Amino acid sequence: MNEKESWTEKYRPKYFSELKGQELPIQQIKEFLNNLSEKKNKKKAIILHGPPGIGKTTIAYIISNEKNAEIFELNASDLRNNEKIKEILKPVAEQQSLTKKMKIILIDEVDGISEVDRGGISALLNVIESTNYPILITANDIWDKKFSDLRKRSECIQLKEINYRIIKDVLIEILRKERKFIENDILTNIAMNARGDLRAAINDLQMAANLEDPSKILVYERDKETDIFSALRMIFKGKPTNNMLNLFDSINKPIDEIMLWVEENIPLEYQGEELARALDLLSKADIFKRRIYKQQYWRFLVYENAFLSYGISSAKNSNSGIDKKAFTSYKKPTRILKIWMNNQKVEKKKTIAKKYAKYVHIGEKRALKEFSIIKQFLLKPEIQKELKLSEGEISYLESK
Ligand SMILES: Nc1ncnc2c1ncn2[C@@H]1O[C@H](COP(=O)(O)OP(=O)(O)OP(=O)(O)O)[C@@H](O)[C@H]1O
Ligand SMILES: [Mg+2]
Repeated sequence: MNEKESWTEKYRPKYFSELKGQELPIQQIKEFLNNLSEKKNKKKAIILHGPPGIGKTTIAYIISNEKNAEIFELNASDLRNNEKIKEILKPVAEQQSLTKKMKIILIDEVDGISEVDRGGISALLNVIESTNYPILITANDIWDKKFSDLRKRSECIQLKEINYRIIKDVLIEILRKERKFIENDILTNIAMNARGDLRAAINDLQMAANLEDPSKILVYERDKETDIFSALRMIFKGKPTNNMLNLFDSINKPIDEIMLWVEENIPLEYQGEELARALDLLSKADIFKRRIYKQQYWRFLVYENAFLSYGISSAKNSNSGIDKKAFTSYKKPTRILKIWMNNQKVEKKKTIAKKYAKYVHIGEKRALKEFSIIKQFLLKPEIQKELKLSEGEISYLESK
């Protein structure tokens, strides 16, 4: 079996009978298609709308499979391009006489059309006017004003989140086919955590099945703060993507500490050439870090971030995805982290002493020397306020 294949693709339903939890919309779609072939419909387009991962795009492929129809997909940028539209519509009409095969025009994720390409929507309305083929439009949210004409000229069919019990049944069925076992409680947790998004649940299931200890998946909660372990997993095991550039924003740790975590764990994932590349990128991140400190040029944070996330992720060979699937137990950067935290503390102590010294008109050195004495005094909130101590400085004082 190909380990890299995603289960969501592998188990994408091919027939309506395999599509779970969408009985009512399925009935509405079948009716629409029947009426269409009997030319009873006033409308030629269907809008399938609803939250992510519930079967909207899949339905287009099911129809094409069951009706033996070909899918012509138009995306937002095709719609902006008049020539392209003509080009696509023309062969649709011509080819029909040759093959007698039905065609479906699919506009997947129409809400990807932004305000700026409004032209795209009127082009779409033209397409609806000028073709006899059924048009399938999918969207997460169709209630924006810009879609009001489109809504009027289409049959709107709503798909809802999938109930967690149905999700769990789908997960159990997939595990059975994969001949894998995961404990019931974990399956329930994955199913509930997906909040109606079956794609998310199947992805979590695949991830859990690849872990030595599938219960580790429970740590990872959707929409919550990303913990450092999940972030490392994404960087080291995943393909580098643009989303990675913001990965560290959701981690509640300073970037310098994140760098230590990355550094500590690089050798666990990369060897040979990959290791050399990763270390090189790490040193580049470090250069920017130093420049930030020296020149207080915060703009460089973007680069530091990019080298650490996308950069390190792209250090792996493109074909090494398979052997990186295995679970890695990442390490906390112990020794260097301690040194670093200690330096942070010394740094805090210095800045506090400086503020105090200025306030009471003594030298900084003396303030540092007498720190243990003045500390008692600095614990008073009024004083902290008066000295304008930062949150970090206050928590340093309180942690001692
Ligand atoms: N109702 C369903 N029954 C069985 N499997 C489903 C169902 N809905 C989604 N899936 C699984 O999730 C995957 C993704 O579904 P699909 O691409 O249809 O989602 P979508 O509704 O188009 O989401 P999006 O809004 O993000 O485009 C499918 O390949 C399939 O594995
Ligand atoms: Mg889709």
